[in-house]
Amino acid sequence: MTSRIPFIAGNWKMNLDHQQGIALVQKLAWTLKDANFEYKNAEVVVFPGFTSLRSIQTLIDADNFEIKLGAQDISAHDSGAFTGEVSGIALKKLDANYVLIGHSERRQFHYETDEVVQAKTAAAFRHGIAPVICVGETLEELEAEGAAAVPVRQTLAALAGHEVLGNFVIAYEPVWAIGTGQVATPEQAASVCGKIREAIRSAHGEVADKVRILYGGSVKAANVAGFLRSPEVDGVLVGGASLDAEEFAGIARFQSHLAL
Ligand code: 13P
Repeated sequence: MTSRIPFIAGNWKMNLDHQQGIALVQKLAWTLKDANFEYKNAEVVVFPGFTSLRSIQTLIDADNFEIKLGAQDISAHDSGAFTGEVSGIALKKLDANYVLIGHSERRQFHYETDEVVQAKTAAAFRHGIAPVICVGETLEELEAEGAAAVPVRQTLAALAGHEVLGNFVIAYEPVWAIGTGQVATPEQAASVCGKIREAIRSAHGEVADKVRILYGGSVKAANVAGFLRSPEVDGVLVGGASLDAEEFAGIARFQSHLAL
């Protein structure tokens, strides 16, 4: 298992309105409480859509939940004529601890390039929000370049030119495993996560020991332990299964099924 604090993240994508989001976070917190979950054993982070952030921040604050909050995107700009964008200033004001950057759906459907991802990473660092930089290869890229080439390249591009202090997370999500049920093997995930860490070490030095590197793609309570058994995988980024409180709580409680 990892020597870093495992990071268990739920990316809700474009699902749930703010009322459904509140209900999900309440149920998640209660389910974890009933199971005597220890937040020191794993950091649990939800990434709701923008319209739910304020409600969920208020809930977390009022009920002293230890669940952390993240946004799904951030503008590269701080303010001005950028219709529809959301700034790091506004996210910081909502106590967003984390922000997803460069999710494959943003790269694929919104044409985000490595340059855009790099600029958004700069914005997150500027505002003291830890970026969760998403990287991963398509099936074509896997066949053409092998497993680690694209994720390593995307990681180094996102971090280029920054003073990298370790306050960031990398999520390796093979595009072919997202929402497909076609999950990478724990060995595949561990191998790519290890190569990403080595690349960060070569480019940025010892900070590589601090950064958490996650696997994402069709993670469920039933398969999470396989990934987190490896010392290379520091957590998971979960899509579909994070919309179900009991399933996501089961993922957060992976340590209880590590021995099985
Ligand atoms: P699924 O868990 O639904 O495959 O989604 C993974 C993902 O894209 C999380 O960001």
